[in-house]
Parts: sequence; C-alpha cells; structure tokens
Amino acid sequence: MSIERHGGIVDLRSDTVTHPTPAMRKAMFEAELGDDVFGDDPTVNALEERAAELLGKEAALFVASGTMGNLVAQLGHLGRGQETIAGASTHIVSDEQAGHAVVVGTSIRQMAERPDGTWDLAELNDAFRDPRDLHEPISGLVAIENTHAHSMGQPLPLEYVRNVAEIAHAHGVPLHVDGARFFNAARALGLTPRELAQPADSIMFCLSKGLACPIGSMVVGRRDFIARARRGRKLVGGGMRQVGVLAAPGLVALRDGADGMIDRLAEDHSNARTLAEGLAALDGIESAGGLAQPELGPLDPGRVQTNFVVFRVRRDRARFLNGLRGRGILMVEYPHDTIRAVTHYGVDATDIERVLAACAAVLRETSPTAASAAATAAI
Ligand SMILES: Cc1ncc(COP(=O)(O)O)c(C=O)c1O
Repeated sequence: MSIERHGGIVDLRSDTVTHPTPAMRKAMFEAELGDDVFGDDPTVNALEERAAELLGKEAALFVASGTMGNLVAQLGHLGRGQETIAGASTHIVSDEQAGHAVVVGTSIRQMAERPDGTWDLAELNDAFRDPRDLHEPISGLVAIENTHAHSMGQPLPLEYVRNVAEIAHAHGVPLHVDGARFFNAARALGLTPRELAQPADSIMFCLSKGLACPIGSMVVGRRDFIARARRGRKLVGGGMRQVGVLAAPGLVALRDGADGMIDRLAEDHSNARTLAEGLAALDGIESAGGLAQPELGPLDPGRVQTNFVVFRVRRDRARFLNGLRGRGILMVEYPHDTIRAVTHYGVDATDIERVLAACAAVLRETSPTAASAAATAAI
C-alpha cells in the first residue's frame, strides 16, 4: 500500500490528520451516487450495511463526524430531562460543547475514572437515579469511551464492557459506546469488532481517525434506534445528499484483510510503543501523571496499548514543541501540561526513528545546562 506523505512533515498531533489512500481516492471518483435523504445513495447504503454487519447490529447511519454521531445517538436514546452516566474526562462530557444539554436537553452524571479508563462498578450501580423521586432526573443512558483517550488510549476489555452493560440493562437503560477509536480497541484486545460490540446497544465509530478516511463516522445499533438517530441527524442539519463520494472511502476502510484499514492499526500500535520506548530512554522525558500514567517517574512504554503516547518534558513545553516543529515534527499540547503524540497511517517506523532523534536534539538544546552554558559564553 503506498503511503500518502505529508510534505516531509511527521504529524503526530492526531490520527485525524490522515489523508485518504489511493484506493479511497479512486473509490471516491468512481462512487455511484443518489440523494441520501431519500435513501437513494447506493454507496451510503452499502457503507451502512457493511458497518452494521461488521459490528453485528441491525442497522447503521453515516454521519459527518464523531461529535455528530454521539449527538444523534443521544437523540435516539434519550428524551428531554433524562440523564446520561459518563466518564468525567470523556469527549461526550468535555469536548462536545455540552451538546447533550444544548440540543438533547439532558444532563450528565460524571463518573470518576481509574487509570485504565474503567469505573468502579459499585459506584456505577449507585449512579442511577431513583425514578420514584420527583426531584431527580431519569437515568436514560450509560456512555463509555473505547479506546479511552485520557488514559493514554487504553482499550476497555470485553469483560468490563459486559459488566457495565449488565448493570445498565438491569436499570432498564441502554449502553452507548463512543468508539471514535473502536477498531484500535478491538485490535489491541485481539477481538473481532463484533465481539467487542456485542454488549453495547449502540456504537459510534470514526472513519476519519485511524481508518484514514477524509470524513465521517458511523452510528450502529437496533433498527428502531437508528431510525430515531436518522431523524436526529436531520434535525442538526446532517441530512446529506450525494454523499456516496464521502462514503466510498469508508467502504474501502472497512474491507477485510490487507485491502482495508482495520488490520493495519496493529502497525500504529507497534509504532506508538517504539516511540514510547525511545522517549523513555531520553533524559528529560517523564510520565504524564493523571490518568495517562498515574505513577510519576519514567515514562512506562507498557502503558501504550494503542496509538496514543502521552508524556511530560522537564523543559518548557512550548519551547520543546517549537523545537520539534522546526524539525518538521508536530505533536500537540494535552491537558495537565502534557504532550500527546498519536501514530497513524502515513507514519512509519523510519519516521519514528527521525522523531526520536529530533526529540533528543531538542531536549539537549533546551536543557538547563545548555541555557547556562550559552549565558556564560555571552558574558
Ligand atoms: C473519543 C472521541 N470521541 C469523539 C470524537 C469526535 O470526533 P469528531 O472530531 O469527528 O467530531 C473524538 C475526536 O477526537 C474523540 O477523540
């Protein structure tokens, strides 16, 4: 597979920066089209069927983005005044402009998360509201994130997802998975996407992250839920027309085997691990703290299970990032004074070597001893 290069830049800011593969571009050019709001676009229909089949659910819906997917999933599951139970650091809680409140008319009860991204299940059980109490909202949804971004992309294991689903269902509430990187999770856990999806009532997954499509996410679940989510998509202006041109790369990404983009995610995970191993050996790099790696000290490459590496530099963070930028390497500031590097299609093992050499050079340049030597020379 020939890799789309980014003008000599190694861009590790996110897996959203990926460019479509040559096979995707060809499929876009050749896509059969129709008006999707009428249900007439054969390429969109084929993509929705493929996504549903892959995850073992009845139906699927193509949406513009992960944020829109989570939003219309909430519209499909919830009524005004209901409440979602979700992890405190997750995208739905912190990074979607409170769409749950603004558009859906619901609240979120936030769960404390452990360093592996999971919750205490007894606490989950206690988080459900008492439907007989007139003061309380009605619990209507449980939402988890898999992979879990702020814990450095930990994949939530199947057994745990099953337990969460069981508790939700015992309270009569569905389980939604924000699976922006769902296939990374399945790959890291050695499961088929269908196995990992089984306990959930709905899953949103992104085509435009590790799967390298230029746009799009899928919402997958029961037929009646997808019909409600489709209405929600129209409400938020997401009814699109001849979007087979955008669905076509998704069909390529979801192909089986070496033709598709799912199996190659293992390469991203291996590159991320190599990056973390190299960084851990450098003086000036340390663990990120918080959920990413709670024990402070050396960066632990064993924490890297998928395509996220989160770390801290014993340097001025902005100077470090600027130094990398000057060498054609992009990383991004992450919460709590940390830095995130994400591997993806378009970044290979040679790039990782280049990144590590650049990190070593910038750490040397920005070290306190380099600064004092420069000051002495200037006297
Ligand atoms: C965990 C998670 N969920 C949802 C989204 C939203 O995806 P989009 O940027 O396509 O709206 C992201 C984006 O980074 C994410 O990381």
